[in-house]
Amino acid sequence: MQVNDSELHAQGASTFTDDIPTPQGTLHAFPVVSTVAHGRILNIKLDAATAYPGVVRILSARDIPGINNIGNIEAEEVLLAEQAVMYQGQPIALVIAETETIARQAAALVEIGYQELPAVFDARTAHAQGLHIMPPRIFSLGDTDKAWQDCDYIVEGSAGSGAQEHVYLETQTALAYPLENNGLKLFSATQSPGLVQRACARVLNCPMHRVEVDVLRLGGGFGGKEEQATLWAALAALGAVKTKKPVKIKLNRDEDMRLTGKRHPYDADFKIGLDQCGKILAYQVEFFQNAGALADLSPAILERTLFHTSNSYYIPNVRATANSCRTHLPPNTAFRGFGGPQAMFILESAIFKAAQAMHLDPAVIQQKNLLKDGDYFPYGMTAQQCMAESSWQALQSRYLIQDRQHAIDAYNARHPLSKKALALMPICFGISFTATFLNQADALVHIYTDGSVSVSMGAVEMGQGVKEKIRKIAALTFAIDEARVKVESTNTTRIANMSPTAASVGADLNGAATLLACTQILQNLKTLAAKLLADDAKPEHITLKQEKVYLNGEATDIEWGKLISQAYLSRTPLSAHAHYASPGLFFDRSREQGKPFAYHVYGCASVEVTVDCLRGIYSIDRVSIVHDAGKSLAPMIDRGQIEGGVVQGLGWMTMEEIIYDQQGRLKTDNLTRYKIPDFYFAPEIEIEFLADEESPAVMQSKAVGEPPFMYGIGAYFALIKAIQAFNPNWQADFCAPMTPEKVLSALYEKNESPFN
Ligand code: MTE
Ligand code: HPA
Ligand code: MOS
Repeated sequence: MQVNDSELHAQGASTFTDDIPTPQGTLHAFPVVSTVAHGRILNIKLDAATAYPGVVRILSARDIPGINNIGNIEAEEVLLAEQAVMYQGQPIALVIAETETIARQAAALVEIGYQELPAVFDARTAHAQGLHIMPPRIFSLGDTDKAWQDCDYIVEGSAGSGAQEHVYLETQTALAYPLENNGLKLFSATQSPGLVQRACARVLNCPMHRVEVDVLRLGGGFGGKEEQATLWAALAALGAVKTKKPVKIKLNRDEDMRLTGKRHPYDADFKIGLDQCGKILAYQVEFFQNAGALADLSPAILERTLFHTSNSYYIPNVRATANSCRTHLPPNTAFRGFGGPQAMFILESAIFKAAQAMHLDPAVIQQKNLLKDGDYFPYGMTAQQCMAESSWQALQSRYLIQDRQHAIDAYNARHPLSKKALALMPICFGISFTATFLNQADALVHIYTDGSVSVSMGAVEMGQGVKEKIRKIAALTFAIDEARVKVESTNTTRIANMSPTAASVGADLNGAATLLACTQILQNLKTLAAKLLADDAKPEHITLKQEKVYLNGEATDIEWGKLISQAYLSRTPLSAHAHYASPGLFFDRSREQGKPFAYHVYGCASVEVTVDCLRGIYSIDRVSIVHDAGKSLAPMIDRGQIEGGVVQGLGWMTMEEIIYDQQGRLKTDNLTRYKIPDFYFAPEIEIEFLADEESPAVMQSKAVGEPPFMYGIGAYFALIKAIQAFNPNWQADFCAPMTPEKVLSALYEKNESPFN
């Protein structure tokens, strides 16, 4: 019987790329990487490595048969550096050896001579030096210049958030087999089998149909394998083609942490203007994105930052300028939220700072400015079925937020050395790829003669439960037991030109394609059933319920098994392919206006914290959420997505701190130096679903993967409130993460309390 991934995981029975049995003679590859952040390559000495016993071959850029470019957006992304290196950890050569250990040892023997060039690691310095990935982009609504004169309060400041490591459990891995006729089969731990296929074909100078990419599942991706799995897959592919042997590549944790990009750090300058009631009249912001050395997905991430500039608030006058700044760090990349969280953190910082100037609770400003139906976003869309206010209200009433606030005030009055605080965090996240053309998907459905069903589609399972949702869609459409449905590996020979599994739309797009394909077969089956049952019966008189055929609502003696064997015998098609494209999307970049999103997901959270004011340590006590999941297809999965997203967001805001040294080398390259939330850190999480049955989501079940991440932003503001309850003289600098070290120094900075 088919079971879901969660059951296999619990049994330790699921297969990941590294578990795939390797054929006899499989070789192992390991890259030689740059040890300088920016420089010209003067020479490469291979002698010692080549002579090392067990080394089969060492490849460099000259060995690439096709184009030395694996880039998706920009044409600058080389597979192996040739003349220049742009970051520490950039691959320059590839050692292929009999074992993994030999490949690593020999890679360390390759000597590279560099002429070092000046390197820049922070976005503002890069901006000042004119180092950019692309020209700036500007979104605007209304007229900020005119609006300032109507404001009673104008507050300016800066804010910024740090990088974040993905820490997917499964590190970057690929296995490539050469096939007959110069073909290649690749097992890659990627969110984007289609991109891997295209990049490998380009590097190998062969048509895409010669490269088959197969993905069974990932041990997590979180955006870190949307673009950045391609490099490792292409290296394995090159190795396999050059040696005519299977080649495997796999990074250890510290290597993965050093050689791959992270969530983009952002800096920003803001100016916010309000009337005396707290209504925001104008918001001006300039973002400085630290893109790292190469474009990767930075332009798309920058765009999503702009889309989420005003989060779930209506601000009539907005001017947002976004700069993608080139630094000499590993290229930063997609990470849950895709630039959205960075924008939202900056706006919350501006609101917090304004609230302080006005002696208001930030919640007063937040509530007063929530979006309503018909309000404009700064990119041409209007809010529809907007749930910003209803989720805010539902949060208040469901969790009695006012009572909680009173209890916190009373606690703080009684406890001189321990302070609690609560912050609210509303979210509004746009659902669709911001690149309109990516909003398409295909599915291929087969029913075998025993009535079992096979579904192929373009989404990659990475723990988010997309295959479980797809199974449910097929089972519900055919009215059969889920156990009959198998969702196949994600494979480029069955599904062509698939978009990455990203932007939270894996189930929406691929589920819709699956639904279309199943419906086509179902139509054939209904026509057949009508013919079998009565002369005057029509397909529209037929329904299927619990594996049985009904005619005009009456049960018949045709059950699923019989229906399928009759279909086969009567030569009725039992396979179908369907294509889905989200309707109505467009975006005009010359005007920065359009309808980029199929819909928005809303919600609101309350985050409660306690700070130990003697030691600076803190706990996140509770996160209470009202979330708009639509009519959830899989409530357990969605709950898991919300919990996981929140905890990841809390980590980003609190303990996860990426540190590079003066040479651009990652210092936090293992999990003792880089802390992520664990079971003990995770707070109590309460979740209430808001039902919104009218949405363009597949089967009304809204996308859930990324939005909950942003509830975690509340933790930063709860922490700074708790610190201020102890040390009212301290002014927050709005630089996340708020690590325990920073909390400790904040507690005692300019503190005139008797505890200092
Ligand atoms: N959940 C798990 N367990 N593992 C993951 O890697 N990735 C997140 C989210 N939830 C991820 C996850 C990200 S970044 C996205 S875009 C979505 O899942 C992608 O899957 P979906 O489109 O099917 O929701
Ligand atoms: N999200 C994730 N990945 C993407 C997007 C997006 O909006 N656009 C292009 N790639
Ligand atoms: Mo998610 S960052 O769109 O992979």
